This record gives sequence, C-alpha cells and structure tokens, in this order.
Amino acid sequence: MMRSYRALGAAAALLTLGLISLSAQAPSDVQRAVDAAYSKFRSLQEGKNADYIPALAKVDPNLFGIAVVTADGKVYTAGDIKTEVSIQSISKVFTMAQVIQEQGLESIEKRIGVDATGARFNSIIAVEGVRTVIGTGAPEMNPLVNPGAISATSMVTGSSSDAVWKKIMDFHNDSAGRQLTVLQDVYKSESDTNQRNQAIGALMLAYGYIKTNWQQAVDLYTRQCSIGVNARDLATMAATLAAGGKNPVTGKQVLDAGKVPGVLAVMATAGLYDDSGKWLYHTGLPAKSGVGGGIIAVSPGKFGIAVVSPPLDDAGNSIRAQRAITDISNALGGNPYAPVK
Ligand code: DON
Repeated sequence: MMRSYRALGAAAALLTLGLISLSAQAPSDVQRAVDAAYSKFRSLQEGKNADYIPALAKVDPNLFGIAVVTADGKVYTAGDIKTEVSIQSISKVFTMAQVIQEQGLESIEKRIGVDATGARFNSIIAVEGVRTVIGTGAPEMNPLVNPGAISATSMVTGSSSDAVWKKIMDFHNDSAGRQLTVLQDVYKSESDTNQRNQAIGALMLAYGYIKTNWQQAVDLYTRQCSIGVNARDLATMAATLAAGGKNPVTGKQVLDAGKVPGVLAVMATAGLYDDSGKWLYHTGLPAKSGVGGGIIAVSPGKFGIAVVSPPLDDAGNSIRAQRAITDISNALGGNPYAPVK
C-alpha cells in the first residue's frame, strides 16, 4: 500500500512537471510525428514570403525544415535543418528574456506592459492607443510587437553599442547552443528600408518608453532581427524555455527557472500577433513567429519545436510552420491545457 502511494506521489510530481507523457513517448513515435507532418505539408503552396524587407523576398519559398528538441536534449528533425534564415521577431523573445534575467519580471511589465495590442506587429496606432492608458499604470503594449521590442532592446544595459550588442548576441548564442552570426545582406536590406521602425523608435522616446538614443535601439533591434538561424537552432532555443531556462543540449542555465513562466506568458498572449488567441485555442502552446518564416513553440517540461518555411499568411505567420507544429504537438500531447491521457 505504502509503495503504491509513493508511486502515485512520484507520478503526481512528474505530472506537475509536465514530464510524464513525454517520457511515455517512444523516440520512434516522436520521429514518426515529425516525418508525418513533413510529408503532409511539404507540397503545400499557400502564402507568400515577406517582401517589405527586400532581402526576405529572395529566400527560397520551398525551404522547409522541422526540428523538435526535448527537455532532456534529444533532437528529432525532418527536411532542411541547415539553411539559415533571419530570426526576425523570434529574437524579441530572447531580448525580452535577457532584460527579465537582468532586471526582473517587473521591469518589462512596468515599462512596456504584457498585454495584447490587438493590432499588427508594426502598428503606430497601437503606440498612440497606449498613451491613453499609460497614466493608469496599465500599458496595453508588450515586448513582442515592434514598439515594445525596440523599447526592450533599449533596456539592455551597456556602456557602448558594442557592449549592449555582445549581451544580446551572447544570450541568443547560449539559448541556441552555438555561435550565431548576423546575415549581413538582411541587416543591410532592413536598415535601408526600416523608416517605419525609426518612426516608432522616435515615438517611443517621445512617450518615455525609451530613455535615450532611439537610433541605437532601432539599429540593434534591426541587427538582432538579422541573426541567422536554422530550424535546429530555433528548436534548441525553444527547448531552453521548455526546460526551465536550461539549454538541454549544452546544459547551460541561460535564464533563471523562475523567470521562464513570465516569458512564456507573453508568448502566449502576443507571440502570433493578432492571431495569438486562435493559435492558443488550437495548440495551447506559447509560441513566437518571425517574418523570416520561422516559428518556435514551447511545450513546458516536454519539448521545444521549430519550423522554418518562409511563405506567410496575412498576419505575418508562416503557414506551413503553424500547420506542422499543430499536428506534431497534438500527436505528442504537447498542449499543456489538455487532460493527461
Ligand atoms: O521589424 C520588423 O518589421 C522585422 N524585423 C521583424 C518583424 C517580424 O518578424 C514580425 N513577425 N511575424
């Protein structure tokens, strides 16, 4: 009797950690789910590459790679997991996490907010809207849309632009488990055409979200969006969040475990912009998309998943990535809100 109570206690602890259904999952089941999604969506021809950043229009729209990295560091892949695309808005998660790591969860909540804007990722109306409530202490903004992200980048401390950049890059490298580099053609292309983000940066300074030097914030933000990543890098970054802030492949603790839930909450609220609610309804997964074609999603305690496929829908989210992640996560019992079978 005593032993079965103990076994029940251990199972409950595993359930709390969200680990039970993953450990019940045979490696071949995970690979089968990844392979099935790859062949199901390989020939899907919907959507269109982003073209407001000219370099993104030139990326091969057929590029399709899937990677799952489990919270204990096992890697499952299908398709092209080597070709790099620019990380784009997925970097917003890791720069936000870096600020939270250094300055605490309240820093982001107070300065930027953690609420959905209900607008597109580069909306200026959202910046104007937030001014009406900022005095109430309830900013309707978050670090995953451009105004909030440029402000979050401005919050990374450092004595020079290079010092700030090193911290941003190190955080991305540690999360991916390798030395990443900037795709210079994308950085140049976006720097030449990012007048809208410059306007947003100037407004965020005018309204007190950025304290000084909005030009540096926009430049570093543009550079962080141009970091090159493949599907495996992105899945490892997602798995770092799934494993309580510890990169499960390298074993390095990148983010304090207690700070991870806050990061995931903002991803759940705003990770797929104005389609975040719809996404959460179908998957339950905190996620983040980028206009380079990547999406990461996190099943806490279980796995990180990433898909790279450049054609996007109207909200700016990769179509094949959304479909493949939904199928794979559902096959693996990834939805944290679903009853454990
Ligand atoms: O600032 C921009 O517009 C891009 N560097 C990033 C936008 C983005 O990835 C939105 N994602 N879905």
